[in-house]
Amino acid sequence: MKIAVAGTGYVGLVSGVCLAAKGHDVICVDLDQEKVDKINRGEPPIYEIGLEALLKDNIGKRLRASTDLREAVIASDLSLIAVGTPFDGSAIDVSFIRQVAREIGFALRERDEYHMVVVKSTVVPGTTDDVVLPILERESNKKAGVHFGVGMNPEFLREGDAISDFMNPDRIVVGGNDEKARDMLAAVYAPFEGVEIVRTNPKTAEMIKYAANSLLATLISFSNEIGNLCASIGEIDAQEVMRGVHLDKRFSPIMADGTRVSPSSNTYLEAGCGFGGSCFPKDVKALIAHGKRHGRDMALLDAVVSVNAEQPAKMIELLDKHIANRKGVKVAVLGLAFKPGTDDMRESPAIPVVQTLAEEGAIIQAFDPIAVDEARHTFSGLDIHYAPSMAAALDGVEAILLMTRWDEFAGLPALVSSMDSPPVVIDGRRMLAKDSVPRYEGIGL
Ligand code: UGA
Repeated sequence: MKIAVAGTGYVGLVSGVCLAAKGHDVICVDLDQEKVDKINRGEPPIYEIGLEALLKDNIGKRLRASTDLREAVIASDLSLIAVGTPFDGSAIDVSFIRQVAREIGFALRERDEYHMVVVKSTVVPGTTDDVVLPILERESNKKAGVHFGVGMNPEFLREGDAISDFMNPDRIVVGGNDEKARDMLAAVYAPFEGVEIVRTNPKTAEMIKYAANSLLATLISFSNEIGNLCASIGEIDAQEVMRGVHLDKRFSPIMADGTRVSPSSNTYLEAGCGFGGSCFPKDVKALIAHGKRHGRDMALLDAVVSVNAEQPAKMIELLDKHIANRKGVKVAVLGLAFKPGTDDMRESPAIPVVQTLAEEGAIIQAFDPIAVDEARHTFSGLDIHYAPSMAAALDGVEAILLMTRWDEFAGLPALVSSMDSPPVVIDGRRMLAKDSVPRYEGIGL
């Protein structure tokens, strides 16, 4: 199929490259000429594991980038809208979606064959039907369901695993207003054999995305609330509590041969210093705001957000137990990205922790395997020493705050054991064994 993808951000570029790798002819479109040139040279403008290799394999063959959306739409059977939908505090901003819909609609005047327009951006329920469809009809002077189809196809890509998530999907949600639209959207995924497809209407497809992210965020805040209570009561380790919970066969089913399957969602049932990133915080808040507009007070999701907002401060509370006055005290902060495998720091729990330490006058020695450039930008104006390695970050520190679950931090106990006076290690991800360092504190312990 010939596919135009509007927007070469994280979702658009990964989708475009992967669809080309699966045999479709793809044109990735972006307003930014520099980005387009980079893509055409085989250089991804964003970092994502495996993306560069896949881009280099396909560019100039089944894939090209362009700034001309009109030409791309006219030449394609299907357009994917993959532009950003930032949350402004009260609603998602759909101005980029509107702009792209206008351009696609206008281009459809010049296309005689049926064309399918699909929203891939995360948008609140009703956006495809109530915002995108009327713009397309108005600009094209044509009728949805007759001359063109409209659909919604949410993405479920995790940053750092986006290529493998796209190439090996757990489900595909095909939202369309009629059978023809759904058939055409499903045909895009025909090369992904054996994957379960949910065929539904666009509003349901939009809601599936928000419900999925909200549930995962809820699991994290639930675990953090239980973990905080365990810590307050004393002599209870939330990690053992959650292991006891996971062993319920409804969370980890026992197969006929006696083996137990532990779903990866169980990691969301671990206490920690909170969730961040470009999706969970934004999507939960956007759904709450949307719910309120529909007369629902969304009490549970409100609590998910407020538990999460308090969670980074738990790191500081644990530090208080050992070093009450941090002025002039050297503290290592390990992990700045919101999660491992990315340099993305958006809504990272490390941000409020570093800001608090800086306000208190601590000497901050920060280390992250790949997010240091991003951190310099985020913390511009703050006096932070960026260490070139984990070992260098530990030089002379009295405390270590572990904020991100990077694999290499598993080597921390070996480094601490060689230090003359062992610092307190505050494990915000509960990734180290409690007895692996002389002075250990962990969330939920
Ligand atoms: C999330 C969802 O997992 C994807 O399914 C979804 O497609 C994506 O949002 C999106 O909407 O685009 P992502 O934000 O990349 O993906 O990251 P996750 O790996 O889910 O982590 C989100 C946050 O939760 C991170 O801050 C992470 O540290 C935290 N987390 C994750 C935990 O605290 N515990 C966990 O077990 C897993």
